[in-house]
Amino acid sequence: LATIIVTGGAGYVGAHACKRLARDGHVAVTIDNLSTGWRDAVRFGPFEGCDLADADGLAAAVARHRPDAILHFAAMSDIERSVADPALAWRANVAGTLNLLAAAGAAGVARFVLSSTCAVHGDQDGVLLTETSPVQPASPYARSKLASEMALADHAARSGMRYAIFRYFNVAGADEGREIGEFHRPETHLIPRALDVVRGRADRLVINGTDFPTPDGTCIRDFVHVEDLVDAHVAGLDHLARGGAERLFCLGSGRGYSVREVVRAVEAVTGTTLPVDAGPRRAGDSASLVCGSRLAQDVLGWQPSRSTLPRMIGDAWAWAQRPGFSA
Ligand SMILES: NC(=O)c1ccc[n+]([C@@H]2O[C@H](COP(=O)([O-])OP(=O)(O)OC[C@H]3O[C@@H](n4cnc5c(N)ncnc54)[C@H](O)[C@@H]3O)[C@@H](O)[C@H]2O)c1
Repeated sequence: LATIIVTGGAGYVGAHACKRLARDGHVAVTIDNLSTGWRDAVRFGPFEGCDLADADGLAAAVARHRPDAILHFAAMSDIERSVADPALAWRANVAGTLNLLAAAGAAGVARFVLSSTCAVHGDQDGVLLTETSPVQPASPYARSKLASEMALADHAARSGMRYAIFRYFNVAGADEGREIGEFHRPETHLIPRALDVVRGRADRLVINGTDFPTPDGTCIRDFVHVEDLVDAHVAGLDHLARGGAERLFCLGSGRGYSVREVVRAVEAVTGTTLPVDAGPRRAGDSASLVCGSRLAQDVLGWQPSRSTLPRMIGDAWAWAQRPGFSA
């Protein structure tokens, strides 16, 4: 059993990872500045309130817990905001990762998993993205993630720390126990935004761009269930512990859905008709992003078995309807 530091453990994906690690008997220590995360979501292990920008505080927190591994989720991941304020993304994602790597190096951390994004590949004409697809990041967010990947690789080459980089996008769904789920404010993700309309928390769903070069004009995206993603992280830690050689994994369902298809699926799951408005494109959005996961399946034994639209929307809907949820 291990002690694992989870940066961003108060956020959506990180909180789900903490729950699983704790269930498996590990100590999951959250390091988070609560900028987009929630103190309430930190229920499965110790909490260290710390900003990645605080190099000394971070080094002290990492040293205090003497972790066997770090799962690095903390990031500024709002693409539109990164276009408006690129320095914000670079500070949080690149400078923050450099500080974390320094802290990991000083504490002799053996294993490190970085959450990256398939957005580093940019638009590739709807081709299924893999680990060998060329990179052409289309936003400051994606560029800052690619830079963090490179910083990690350089650090590990010198220190010998084992690492894995997971590139994924569009995480969806919620914890089967309904204890935690997706909750961003502002919410930029499609499924929770659509469910906000169903719940009467918003009047209409605005589709960001209907003139993309896709069959119905809306963006096409790949969706992965948050619990499947957590499976991959657990398998990734095991892979690194075994001395596995592969370091870069795409985690996608291999199937793309247009925004309009997702809207229809939300309507089917919730039994409602969604009022929809066509809005302008968001800065930094690509037309079609779909990635495969052959390598993760072969090497990590990963199966994105929960990553079907009805399942992801159903779990997100159950979470949104849980008793006492008023946000
Ligand atoms: N959610 C997705 O669809 C998706 C897709 C691809 C990649 N990712 C990546 O996965 C990771 C987690 O995403 P998420 O949806 O859980 O995001 P989130 O915003 O819910 O969680 C991020 C957490 O990091 C914390 N954080 C941010 N900046 C920090 C800083 N400087 N210091 C300390 N803590 C900080 C936030 O408070 C928050 O709790 C991110 O790295 C993101 O880029 C997410």
